[in-house]
Amino acid sequence: MRVLVMPDYRTLSKAAAELFTKALRIKPNLKAGLPTGNTPLGMYEELVRSHREDHLDFSELLTFNLDEYLGLPAAHPESYHTYMSRHLFDQVNVSAANLHIPDGSPGTDPDAESARYEKSIQDAGGIDLLIVGIGANAHIAFNEPGAAFDSRTRRVDLAPETIRNAQQHFGSEQAPTEAITMGMGTILEARRIVLLASGESKAHAVERALHGPVTTSVPASALQMHPNVIAIVDETAGGK
Ligand code: GLP
Repeated sequence: MRVLVMPDYRTLSKAAAELFTKALRIKPNLKAGLPTGNTPLGMYEELVRSHREDHLDFSELLTFNLDEYLGLPAAHPESYHTYMSRHLFDQVNVSAANLHIPDGSPGTDPDAESARYEKSIQDAGGIDLLIVGIGANAHIAFNEPGAAFDSRTRRVDLAPETIRNAQQHFGSEQAPTEAITMGMGTILEARRIVLLASGESKAHAVERALHGPVTTSVPASALQMHPNVIAIVDETAGGK
């Protein structure tokens, strides 16, 4: 695994965006796995800027989001559908038919939706470049500690700390307790993976993911088994 330690969040975001931009220029119909959360916001800002100022073309890009809350309508302000529209899709020239996010809206059959989602990734020929953040408990996407390394897209229960962390965005409304997430096996099949981590709250998780034993109790440690991973961390997240 290559590790890039950047001085701060801004340079981390620029490095991540640059890597994505390069990949998209080389392969305009890139198949990308995309994350949500606070960490990738700076990268998305940079990508929008590249579209506006440098005419970066997203028209052939195929995207597959890592996960979505279960039980939230897609139009809910905190859904990952809304996040992606707001921070990227509505601001660049993506083609709506090329965008994939698991459907977690009420009434969805999570098993059927998960199978459909896996198939859409297979049908596209797999993911070229997958970008992923990390939870303080070292989860990736919504694969919480204990997730099998060969797991596929599926319905999952969120860990209590993940729910607590999400609660800050939901105010008085109860944060979701379940999600549909790409599995560890799905993620590890991506041809190239970029892990982003920023801030001191991630330092322990980053240390365990990069240098600790490879174990399902530290989901991100599975990345050590992948032949093509770059971790881009800032100095506070990489402090250990
Ligand atoms: C959620 C998301 C993850 C993300 C994590 C960390 O659990 N499902 O994909 O990596 O939060 O989020 P943040 O970047 O806000 O710390």
